Amino acid sequence: MELSVFPRRLFRPLIPLAAPLGALLVFGATGVFNTAHAQTPQPKAPQTKAPDTIEARVRGCAACHGKQGQGSDNDYFPRLAGKPVQYLFNQLVNFREGRRKYPPMNYLVTYLSDDYLREIATHFSQQRPPYPPPAAPTVAASKLARGSNIVLHGDPARQVPACAACHGEKLTGMEPAIPGLVGLHADYISAQIGAWRSGSRRAIAPDCMHAIATRLSDEDVSAVAAWLSTQPAPQNPVPAPAGSLKTPLACGSEPQ
Ligand code: HEC
Ligand code: HEC
Repeated sequence: MELSVFPRRLFRPLIPLAAPLGALLVFGATGVFNTAHAQTPQPKAPQTKAPDTIEARVRGCAACHGKQGQGSDNDYFPRLAGKPVQYLFNQLVNFREGRRKYPPMNYLVTYLSDDYLREIATHFSQQRPPYPPPAAPTVAASKLARGSNIVLHGDPARQVPACAACHGEKLTGMEPAIPGLVGLHADYISAQIGAWRSGSRRAIAPDCMHAIATRLSDEDVSAVAAWLSTQPAPQNPVPAPAGSLKTPLACGSEPQ
């Protein structure tokens, strides 16, 4: 599959053109829309119905997210594996209801029920494929230091709390709905923060990430994204237990 390559710049649009088309073709041939397929007459198809397992249902996701949801080399296709189940579920609902916009994702989940989405979310939350090796630094050491400082200590002058206060000291997230920040590409991270600023990504209100994204400067965003992408996953990369961190701002998706 051809993956299109864009020039590097901050907040570029999230539309890798070639990949979605290829992936959707793959998708059409696999099982997520089994119920729709049931209405299509199947002239003398031999009775070799593929079993409707969760593995079959998520086969089409692999083209972009990897077989076990480990992500791919494409800058925009995020890791799903091991993220908290309620976080993944919230995102699938966000795509279905337009709070996040990426046309292939919006399309794939349009007709899927909550139960179905929860099953998919549970599947990926339980996957434990290895993390990719961390990215080699491509920015100046001073910029990495700025990124590390914001992630671990925040920027009180701008009322930016430490990212680690919510995403965990090990940056593996917290149950039930805060995702880990390790194993993501720098471009994906900057693009998500950019989307929160512009309002094209929203979370359940109060949307703490919107508040944080609007307090960060462009420089901060690229510093934070660069530093995060160079961090190796910890030994035991599981989300912190629910309630183990007291979040410095209220987030609608995370019960206080
Ligand atoms: C055509 C490629 C493609 C396919 C196929 C695809 N995805 Fe995605 N998915 C993406 C991209 C790109 C994003 C990030 C979009 C954005 O910027 O908001 C994404 C985001 C997500 C997210 C949010 C991840 C996060 O960390 O916030 C989830 C969950 C997800 N996809 C699940 C799925 C599932 C389940 C399937 C199969 C039913 C699937 N995707 C199929 C490309 C794809
Ligand atoms: C007050 C708690 C809180 C703080 C502080 C916080 N976050 Fe978040 N973050 C969240 C929550 C909650 C979500 C999930 C939002 C949703 O459901 O879409 C999230 C999601 C994200 C995501 C999306 C990950 C993905 O896979 O798509 C990124 C990127 C992110 N945060 C980066 C940061 C950075 C960088 C900082 C520090 C500058 C930060 N966050 C500080 C609570 C927080």
